[in-house]
Amino acid sequence: MTTVRLNSADSVSFDTDALIVGFRSGPDGPRPVADGLEAAFDGKLAASLAAVAFSGKPGEIAKIPTFGAITAPLLVAVGVGESLEDLRRAAGAAVRSLAGTARAALALDGDAEAVALGALLGAYGFDRYRTGEPPKAPVGELTVLTDADQAVAERATVLADSVKLVRDLVNTPPSDLWPARFAEIAEQTAAPLGIAVEVLDEKQLKDAGYGGLIGVGQGSVNPPRLVRLAYSHPEAAKTLAFVGKGITFDSGGLSLKPTSSMDWMKSDMGGAGAVFGALVGIAKLGLAVNVVGYLCLAENLPSGTAQRPSDVLHSYSGKTVEVLDTDAEGRLVLMDGIARAAEDGPDLIVDVATLTGAQIVALGWRTAGVMANDDEVREQVVEAAGAVGEAAWGMPLPDELRKGLDSPVADIANLHPERWGGMLTAAIFLKEFVPDGVRWAHIDMAGPAFNKGEPHGYTPKGGTGAITRTLIGLAERHASA
Ligand code: BES
Ligand code: MN
Ligand code: ZN
Repeated sequence: MTTVRLNSADSVSFDTDALIVGFRSGPDGPRPVADGLEAAFDGKLAASLAAVAFSGKPGEIAKIPTFGAITAPLLVAVGVGESLEDLRRAAGAAVRSLAGTARAALALDGDAEAVALGALLGAYGFDRYRTGEPPKAPVGELTVLTDADQAVAERATVLADSVKLVRDLVNTPPSDLWPARFAEIAEQTAAPLGIAVEVLDEKQLKDAGYGGLIGVGQGSVNPPRLVRLAYSHPEAAKTLAFVGKGITFDSGGLSLKPTSSMDWMKSDMGGAGAVFGALVGIAKLGLAVNVVGYLCLAENLPSGTAQRPSDVLHSYSGKTVEVLDTDAEGRLVLMDGIARAAEDGPDLIVDVATLTGAQIVALGWRTAGVMANDDEVREQVVEAAGAVGEAAWGMPLPDELRKGLDSPVADIANLHPERWGGMLTAAIFLKEFVPDGVRWAHIDMAGPAFNKGEPHGYTPKGGTGAITRTLIGLAERHASA
């Protein structure tokens, strides 16, 4: 596990394997954000970097040997940009580029928490399943050169650990992460933090009328679970409920997905992952707010016991749902989770889900869609995401799309006959299960939860841990001062 410390030592003499130095591009080429370094290099540092075509653009990286000019044998120049998120990404990209190195120090100037967090998030690897020669391990010991208070490092560590917990879960193959196993991990992790944990098994779910979780999970030998994680604080004035889609593998069920869309469906529990990671982070930070998290866990597989297209489910809310497409399963587990969460009388429900391919069509891989039954709530969620550097964009819930969800036999159908606006119709379906007067937002992060492409900034390939920090930020906004 990578650790981070803060140290007010001088970057020139600090003992480390690699010194990461922040740069910005100026009229005369790249210039370091910290003083003292140019002098240590006899004024040749900027020129040397220019010679390797480093200009200091945000996120750009160049490595040069120091030949004894400073204590560290290697200098990593990185363009830090202007925003907090530029800074997090710069720290993350630089640390990521140093995998295989034991120690690194960062002289990036600017907000120490952003530097520490970006660095920690960049120091990530998932090597649990490799045998033989291990690939380059993440940097083990990070030092941020700053005068800031140690508490900054502690906070950054909590945030990074929450995100890494989610990344690990998303990356874990479904052969090792099925609903009951996820529930067990949640219980073992959350209980020692003072979070009250309740797990409903398939029998309890059936008896209590959770038709959505049962219907989606009934095709698998690994039955569904509903995990309730309750964190409370004596000074809390507000209660938040977070509901996460936790499909440990989404084959589509009898409405089977094509092979090409199935290989990364282990990431379909990313919403439940984010809710779990956020609860862990919120408890460690001791925020003065009550937060209840629901993990809606099921495995969506085809079999002789699987639900069929045209089956009708009795949801926890009492409404009946015609299942026209078993691959639109996320909304079926969430409808039960949302209805259950409303019973806690929360000030706000936020659900998080890898819900639709249409989200990726509309907003691309990296930007989550945010929908809500209240404009102010939607804007608050978008703002909370932006503040922690997670891209999210507000989307509408046009009334005219509701009609397409009418079913000839049940109260509502789980599929709209048109694919246009698929992210919005999924949200309109969910909205039907939010009782009147309850404020609710929905985050569709089908793209952001999993990075199929190359690593970038502090984001690795595979599970990203997206939206975990947004939820923690929302809890902070609702905490008593
Ligand atoms: N888990 C998928 C959505 C998804 C797609 C997540 C791509 C991540 C990447 C979801 O359960 C699903 O299959 N949605 C269908 C809904 C459709 C049948 C209405 C979709 O988006 O195609
Ligand atoms: Mn599906
Ligand atoms: Zn799914």
